[in-house]
Amino acid sequence: MPQILDTALDAVGHTPLIRLDKIAKANDLKCNLLAKVEFFSAGGSVKDRIAKAMVIAAEKEGRLIPGKSVVIEPTSGNTGIGLALACAIKVAHPIASSREYALNTTDKGYSVIITLPNKMSLEKEALLRALGAEVIRTPTEAAWDSPESHIGVAERLQRAIPYAVILDQYSNVNNPLAHELTTGPEIIEAVVSTPSTSEHPSSGKVDVLVAGAGTGGTVTGIARAIKKTHNKDCIVVGVDPKGSVLAGTGSNSPSDNVQYTVEGIGYDFVPDVLNFEDIDQWMKTGDDESYAAVQQIMRKEGLLVGGSSGSALSGALRWLQSDAGQQIANTEGLNVVVLFADGIRNYMSKSWFLQIALEAEPSAMAGVISGILGKEKTTNVNVKLAETPASPSAAERKPSATLALSDTAARSASPQIVSH
Ligand SMILES: Cc1ncc(COP(=O)(O)O)c(C=O)c1O
Repeated sequence: MPQILDTALDAVGHTPLIRLDKIAKANDLKCNLLAKVEFFSAGGSVKDRIAKAMVIAAEKEGRLIPGKSVVIEPTSGNTGIGLALACAIKVAHPIASSREYALNTTDKGYSVIITLPNKMSLEKEALLRALGAEVIRTPTEAAWDSPESHIGVAERLQRAIPYAVILDQYSNVNNPLAHELTTGPEIIEAVVSTPSTSEHPSSGKVDVLVAGAGTGGTVTGIARAIKKTHNKDCIVVGVDPKGSVLAGTGSNSPSDNVQYTVEGIGYDFVPDVLNFEDIDQWMKTGDDESYAAVQQIMRKEGLLVGGSSGSALSGALRWLQSDAGQQIANTEGLNVVVLFADGIRNYMSKSWFLQIALEAEPSAMAGVISGILGKEKTTNVNVKLAETPASPSAAERKPSATLALSDTAARSASPQIVSH
């Protein structure tokens, strides 16, 4: 890669593969536990890759006309952020081979409208608006094929707005293809190019891949890259939240009627881009284990990931304890790659994050600080966590410095997230 990048779009992808040695040790794993950490991408998630790929492909096909087209997309947020970023950057081609481009002044990208279920975070909406997109909230409980759902509203808008295009991550081949051509090869390259040493023995292969599924494009595309070009015996584990239908058998099996708050994974229908043949095993995960895993990832590995990364890690650890996974877990040098789809930036106001951040066990230093500053202690701040998905009151919470001086006994008595 050149040192100076032309635009932020060139900083999409190229994310690191990072060892999770402390978590591996805490779980008695002999295999290598590696995380593909996608929040390092320009827009902050794995979905930047498909947004960029879908926009470039649609431009080539003539489906998008700079300065004219309106990009509409139903999304759980991250695809929208990637699209809004790409569309903000895009300008009418200066080559102006077509008269239409020449007539447009050069500085025009595409307008973007994002339809976003209510449960998705305030942070995602704010980022979308900051990038210039319009955001329409839709009822979370609306069935995917109802006119009120994020998909239904997007389709209604598309029919009414001239030059509107839905790139449609649920059926667009460039969704899994972006991962087959970028995410997968990056993982393979990182594993293959890292030599086996006595400290870090390596099979030189990706032996297991674990990734959450929303549209399924990520897990399908990476699986294809690995199985086609690198290791056909790689075991691919998909992670699906309890309450979603994706981990069924490919049919729309009824979900177990659980509401889940983890964002970006799980659906009430099976998207076209999810290919069940590429996925060998499924793990179902719950909210509590996912958020407990996020806390472990932050505290033990210093990685500021979002909720679905916790689901992926929790699913991976439980699979490694299962009959199918134990042999892998107990074999030195085997490489288990877990995909961390986005970062905590998207969820800072969510009650689950504020709980693990502000209500965790006080650190060893808390008692020391109280001893020194005891007389100056402020009164205990009443940490009332927001119940609603996007409550501004949570975002406006007092700075944590105030909380750091609050009564430690009261803090340790507050509810703890269950840890595994
Ligand atoms: C946070 C998060 N994790 C995981 C995924 C799953 O990705 P995919 O749609 O490729 O299955 C998404 C997708 O939006 C996401 O936003």
